[in-house]
Amino acid sequence: MEIKIVDSTKDVSCDVLIVNKFEGELTSNPLVNKYAPDTFKGKPGEIFLIHTRNEFPSTYVLAVGFGDEQKLDNNVIRESIVKAVKKCLELKANSIAFDIDTNSAFGIPTLMATSIVNYHFDKYKTKKEHRISEVYISNVTNDIKIAEYVSEAMKLARNLANEPAAFATPSKLAEIAQGFEGLETTVYEEEQIREMGMGAYLAVAQGSAQPPKFIHMKYSCENPKKRIAIIGKGLCFDSGGLDIKPAASMLNMKDDMSGAACVLGIMKVLNKIQPNIEVHGIIAACENMPSGNSYKPGDIVTAKNGKTIEVDNTDAEGRLTLADALCYACELGVDEVIDIATLTGACMVALGSAASGIMGNNDEFVKDIVKTGEYTGEKFWQLPMWQEYRDNMNSDVADMKNTGTRYGGASAAGMFLKEFVTDNVKWAHLDVAGTAFLDKPQKGFSKGATGVGVRTLLSYIISY
Ligand code: BES
Ligand code: MN
Ligand code: ZN
Repeated sequence: MEIKIVDSTKDVSCDVLIVNKFEGELTSNPLVNKYAPDTFKGKPGEIFLIHTRNEFPSTYVLAVGFGDEQKLDNNVIRESIVKAVKKCLELKANSIAFDIDTNSAFGIPTLMATSIVNYHFDKYKTKKEHRISEVYISNVTNDIKIAEYVSEAMKLARNLANEPAAFATPSKLAEIAQGFEGLETTVYEEEQIREMGMGAYLAVAQGSAQPPKFIHMKYSCENPKKRIAIIGKGLCFDSGGLDIKPAASMLNMKDDMSGAACVLGIMKVLNKIQPNIEVHGIIAACENMPSGNSYKPGDIVTAKNGKTIEVDNTDAEGRLTLADALCYACELGVDEVIDIATLTGACMVALGSAASGIMGNNDEFVKDIVKTGEYTGEKFWQLPMWQEYRDNMNSDVADMKNTGTRYGGASAAGMFLKEFVTDNVKWAHLDVAGTAFLDKPQKGFSKGATGVGVRTLLSYIISY
């Protein structure tokens, strides 16, 4: 999808010209004003399509409701534009133009909505889906570039999480990371991972024929305003291990590296955006598989910070890999650590696909991310971090078990991770189990990977 910036989009010859309509007001387009029926009020997302019959340079004009002008915000713009762009895809439009008449900054939400709707994972289909190839837009400043980078990051994140596990292996993720320009990237092999003392992560990885890869990407700049690390859960496949998952639960477990995909998407574009903070992207990539080499329930493993963990359930593997990654990140001396993980079915049960769970050791920091998400269109809901959840994970033979009771599982996982975070580091944990991969279309997203986290974390990074 190519974005073309022009002085005015009013007279662009294209397939569909999209104009906005506020309730009770006329649009900027004479044809819409003349032909739209009174029943077309301009409520958010309401659309009215008109064929111009050569009365206009575009084949169609599509008016989309923006609702009450006083209540207009990013979310209204994004969600309304989603409806309009979907209609353009139905019309098999190749080129579209936006003539958006408002005082609000509409560039980013408009372009983000367009790129979200225009995404399909059809790499393995011989017959490709229809796509919009040209987008004309005007009246926007450097918003455009940002929207392009965020779209590019999301596309990589969605592609990687949609890819079968046979393609998106730990080695593949490492190879992709090493291909990014302008970053310092180190990939640690199994032997080095062992030397670093990452016993929890290695235990998970040991059952698979695919070797683990610990990936560390670093974006640096002069006089960084702060230093942060983003960690993505990188389970390229989660079969459950010896505590094997039932078939239905295993079906989408190629997506268990969605956190890693998000981190890769973000790291890919940082050198182009040149934000003023130092960003470390970290992924402990591996597979969780049953085999003669697998780790077993009852095993006791030692994480990088020396804490011992009794393996209560081999399917609670994400937190074991994250434990070592969190220790590693805290040792970098960063100010903040954010992990993003498809961590618990419990979070999915609690919040569905509407919101991701968020927890952390600093309320202000957590709230900052929640706020950023409200703006970018990704919902985060804070879950409690109470001692009760930790008490359930006491072990008779080790410092802790890797699971608690069945209920409150998202918070238990959060409390487990906290054991591996240094107190002087601000830390937030994003549980995206319910939001990373959709089983039906939602808000402009097709089924499958959403690239959740990319918009919010990138926006958070850029804000400094
Ligand atoms: N990857 C899963 C969590 C998950 C479930 C992600 C559904 C996306 C959709 C995680 O590794 C897992 O298996 N968690 C277990 C933990 C339990 C054994 C304590 C779960 O949630 O059932
Ligand atoms: Mn699991
Ligand atoms: Zn998992």
